[in-house]
Amino acid sequence: MGQARKRMSDATEEPPVLYALTHDGLESVAADEIEQDFGGEILKTARGLVVFRVPQLDETVLALRTTEDVFLLAWGSDTLTYRSSDLDLFRQWTARKPDWPTLFRWHHQLRPRKRGKPTFHLVCQMQGEHGYRRMDAAEAMRVGLQHVLPTGWYEVDENAWLEIWLTIHGKMAVCGVRLSDRTMRHRTYKQEHIAASLRPTVAAAMVRLAGLTPGCIALDPMCGAGTLLAETICLARQRRYDPPVQLLGGDIDPQAVFVACQNLSRLGPVGLARWDSRALPLADASVDRLMCNPPFGKQLASPQEVTALYAAAAREWDRVLKPGGRAVFVVMDQQPLVNALRPFHWLLARRLSVRLLGQPCTISVWNKSPYPAFSTSTD
Ligand SMILES: C[S@@+](CC[C@H](N)C(=O)[O-])C[C@H]1O[C@@H](n2cnc3c(N)ncnc32)[C@H](O)[C@@H]1O
Repeated sequence: MGQARKRMSDATEEPPVLYALTHDGLESVAADEIEQDFGGEILKTARGLVVFRVPQLDETVLALRTTEDVFLLAWGSDTLTYRSSDLDLFRQWTARKPDWPTLFRWHHQLRPRKRGKPTFHLVCQMQGEHGYRRMDAAEAMRVGLQHVLPTGWYEVDENAWLEIWLTIHGKMAVCGVRLSDRTMRHRTYKQEHIAASLRPTVAAAMVRLAGLTPGCIALDPMCGAGTLLAETICLARQRRYDPPVQLLGGDIDPQAVFVACQNLSRLGPVGLARWDSRALPLADASVDRLMCNPPFGKQLASPQEVTALYAAAAREWDRVLKPGGRAVFVVMDQQPLVNALRPFHWLLARRLSVRLLGQPCTISVWNKSPYPAFSTSTD
């Protein structure tokens, strides 16, 4: 691998441009991860997209935790017209713009071919109202690739060695060779599920926003399947925290506690409890970071239930969080959360709009003042 990497870097002046697809709304967190943890340079961000370069391209880029997929950039544009003339552009750009042999060499280096014939698969994703169909865009890409793909490569529907994706989002389109596979977004620890469980990439983003530090005590008081706790363990390990982060977690539903225990046992021993977040069996000012995905929307029968649950739970969250501590929430109904936290004068530090299970949601980051007597709310 070392030799091959050296040959590739000699053959090309600089590492190729990459792009990552992210959960909508998480591109700034993914850009932060690429810069801070991978030494990358961000070239552009757009909704659901980060274009970047890393100093040296190797398989370590596949360890990104907040991205859904990573690609070698073939071409990109943010000037689509929404008219069918876009299809001519897709054909021309695909045929002429990229240095495909170099992109394929990078791909083969990171994803060596398994036995059998070389296979490829074309994927087209499209969001927005366009004057053409997704299958027309895919066909335009296929025609553009006609003289690009080596003879003897077969198009297949699944388990292809090489995937070329065209992603169209409003007036933006980006085309590239996929480097990641499904293991980037699906985690091996997550074998057991509950309804409304967080996507691991979203949980990873929330954990980054929590600003973990070595030895800090992190709490998820409504842990569900344990995704936030699992991502906390993974990030602390990736950063080799010493002392490690201490985890506290629990849920009112015994089945959720069982499922979380099963998932987390794949990462190491974690003690979880069955508890009610409105009466936590924890000492005052005993946690540094609180991360929570409380039930919302259709998970509860009425808005009144959301308001009452958040208000009762917030009193406990404030009691157990140390002065100077930080909390990160994801909810669909932001106003009941803001109302519930108002009496405690936590400062709203950041707010991100995301979509979960097709619903618009908000991730918010709150700092509890180290000097409660002087804090003011900024909601
Ligand atoms: C949206 S789910 C959390 C999903 C979790 N983040 C995951 O990734 O699997 C909300 C959880 O809050 C729990 N819950 C509801 N009311 C609670 C309460 N009063 N105390 C503790 N947990 C509660 C539910 O049982 C459910 O597991």
